[in-house]
Amino acid sequence: MSEKNILSSNPWRSDGSLRHLLTLEGLSRPLLETLLERSAHYSAPLSVPAARSNALIGKTVALMFAEPSTRTRVSFELAARRLGADVINIEVQLSSRLKGESVLDTVATLESMHVDAFVLRDSDASIPEMVAKHVAPSVSVISGGAGSLSHPTQGLLDALTVRQHRGRIEGLTIAIVGDVKHSRVARSAAQIFTALGAGEVRLVAPVGLMPDEAEFAGCSRFTNLDRGISDCDVVMMLRIQKERMTAAAIPDEARYFQEWGLTRERLQRAKPGALVMHPQPMNRGVEIASDVADGPQSVIRDQVRNGVAVRMAVLETLLAGR
Ligand code: NCD
Repeated sequence: MSEKNILSSNPWRSDGSLRHLLTLEGLSRPLLETLLERSAHYSAPLSVPAARSNALIGKTVALMFAEPSTRTRVSFELAARRLGADVINIEVQLSSRLKGESVLDTVATLESMHVDAFVLRDSDASIPEMVAKHVAPSVSVISGGAGSLSHPTQGLLDALTVRQHRGRIEGLTIAIVGDVKHSRVARSAAQIFTALGAGEVRLVAPVGLMPDEAEFAGCSRFTNLDRGISDCDVVMMLRIQKERMTAAAIPDEARYFQEWGLTRERLQRAKPGALVMHPQPMNRGVEIASDVADGPQSVIRDQVRNGVAVRMAVLETLLAGR
């Protein structure tokens, strides 16, 4: 079957449980809340040992990342191991795909070795969905980042981090700032914050990095940083996704920082004590000043810590007891 022949895969099993996690779009608020509660259960401060369980003993999780990743790949691996699963890492650039083997052939090969779940990252946003359509009914697929379309576990860890610091999402004003147009992080974050009742989700971006009007339903838009973050509870900064634009479209970094970089002075426009977030990798001195990234309002390290907890909750929800 052609890899281009993608029908929307069904994320649900016949008993109503979640089988795949490819996007947060369409997930109900109760299910999102349940995933966040389970994530909170696994989220431990650094002063105590990391949470572990035996929920996935006997399961095998394959990580297939075709784009660079540090945090997401490592945290999926730690999450699977801390639940007792076996983990294999397929270095996609080194694997048979370079020899012309299709993604589906690689997946089928691994399925023959009893892999229970695939975690996929790809610059081609259709790949995780396509794999989900083709795997055996007992196998689950999780997106570790699909093009600029979605990054569901990042959305969950962002929501968990805000909830831990503010106790709620409801009613908060959240600014997502920078290269919103090319950001899968922005899409998944806007979806979950909206679903959980944020008061206002603002897209704050230069005109050229603002997504089409048809996208991000319900979000407000600002093309000025100071106005966009004014009185916000949360300021989420984004990296310029150079890999998703032509060389000519890449902004000059020094000029970008002048106009769009989050500095201490600018942060004063937001509410006192507003949370500063960034999915990383960060470009200090481009979208964010170093002293803000490391400053008292930054929860960036908590986002990373929560990444493991969220991925444990997701793997357990999809695979445990199956
Ligand atoms: C992000 C990604 O890959 O989309 N990183 C991450 O997973 N934390 C953000 C980025 O690359 O800018």
